[in-house]
Amino acid sequence: MSNIDPLTFPPGFLWGAATASYQIEGAAAVDGRTPSIWDTFSHTPGRTKGGDTGDVACDHYNRYREDVKLMADLGLSSYRFSIAWPRVQPGGRGSINGKGIDFYQRLVDELLGHGITPWVTLYHWDLPQELEDAGGWPARDTAYRFAEYAALVHGALGDRISNWTTLNEPWCSAFLGYASGVHAPGRKHAPDALAATHHLLLGHGLAVQAIRAADPAAKAGITLNLYAISPADPSRADDLDAVRRIDGLANRIFLDPVLRGAYPEDVRQDLAGVSDFGFVQDGDLEVISTPLDLLGINYYSRHVVGAPDPDVPAEPYWRASTSWPGSEHVRFHKRPGHPVTDMDWEVDAPGLTETLVRVAREYPAIPLYVTENGAAYVDVPDANGEIADIERAEYFDAHFRACLDAIAQGAPLQGYFAWSLLDNFEWAWGYTKRFGLVAVDYATQTRTLKTSGHRYREVIRRNGLAE
Ligand code: NOJ
Repeated sequence: MSNIDPLTFPPGFLWGAATASYQIEGAAAVDGRTPSIWDTFSHTPGRTKGGDTGDVACDHYNRYREDVKLMADLGLSSYRFSIAWPRVQPGGRGSINGKGIDFYQRLVDELLGHGITPWVTLYHWDLPQELEDAGGWPARDTAYRFAEYAALVHGALGDRISNWTTLNEPWCSAFLGYASGVHAPGRKHAPDALAATHHLLLGHGLAVQAIRAADPAAKAGITLNLYAISPADPSRADDLDAVRRIDGLANRIFLDPVLRGAYPEDVRQDLAGVSDFGFVQDGDLEVISTPLDLLGINYYSRHVVGAPDPDVPAEPYWRASTSWPGSEHVRFHKRPGHPVTDMDWEVDAPGLTETLVRVAREYPAIPLYVTENGAAYVDVPDANGEIADIERAEYFDAHFRACLDAIAQGAPLQGYFAWSLLDNFEWAWGYTKRFGLVAVDYATQTRTLKTSGHRYREVIRRNGLAE
């Protein structure tokens, strides 16, 4: 895909915004929905900031019409949302819950009525609690349950939806959920995180096959959270080895089985003390590498890594070695003077270019979509209630440029989804972190478009940047 005007995106480029069910819907106990692992987790004291839960969230379940109108006002061509598994298949087994799926039918109809293409994510972390009680993702059966659920949802919505993402960020589900335990279900057992990784990927492959069997024209993919990774000191062999390790655990442990049909050998060796990968059965990797129509990439930041330093103080959860089994020999760096967002994540737009170009060059050709990109900042409304979130607007602008650079370098990038449409429940951070293009006043559920939202609307209208 080549571009003549360096500030303009290719014709037909998809412009979207993304959300996830548990982060925005609320209505946790209505119309037959049963608890997910995030209901259990967030209701367990000490698990989320301030004890926040998704019980009400943005009340999107009741306000979806207003929210679709906001999307239409922004000019979005697509909206990426996820389905709450325990809403449509309570308990994770058995037949479809009519009232639960009806909500998504109404949402999809509303989107289509406004000319917005629905883009479904089947799993954005809200596993039915009953399936966790039966073993969760470390149990192989969960993969089969997921494929069954995927087929049920496709049966209900497949006539109006062509874009299907199986999993969102399986790294988080596996490693934050089962190794460091900072996400639901909050377990801390590294071997389980690896079994979970495999069963998530198996579930992905089986779901793709189920969707394809029902509709050969459906477009199926997976969304991975990929990182640019660089050494603290490129002249140190130990630091370069830390890059290899973390690239293995963050990126290649997912990219390789999905796109090449094998786990990376060096990662298996790094993890030899954690797991023998005995959960891999004959034929699994063929299922996992079922060809895809697209790859979704969520990009937020870069990891800068090096050899460990015993004098370094404790690190935040997403850098802690408990989130990275087999990486005890790695230290995560924070580069002095480098801007960070309210999540303490370094702003590094060139890392997005690097990531897109790398995937395009090193893996079999496949259309790419940025399925999430965005930033949390503290928003301060002015006297009129307007939110001039200039840092967020600049973050987006820099990343749009990074997308253009990637396209210029040959990456087959076909769309971009901002994270997020709305401020929402930021998992273990509760409502303390705001990522929205649209501000949400949780006391009144009032929505206000931020400056970043106004600017995004202009980018979409131009299909590019002004200068
Ligand atoms: C990725 C996740 O998919 C999303 O749920 C989360 O809110 C954002 N990152 C920001 O942390």
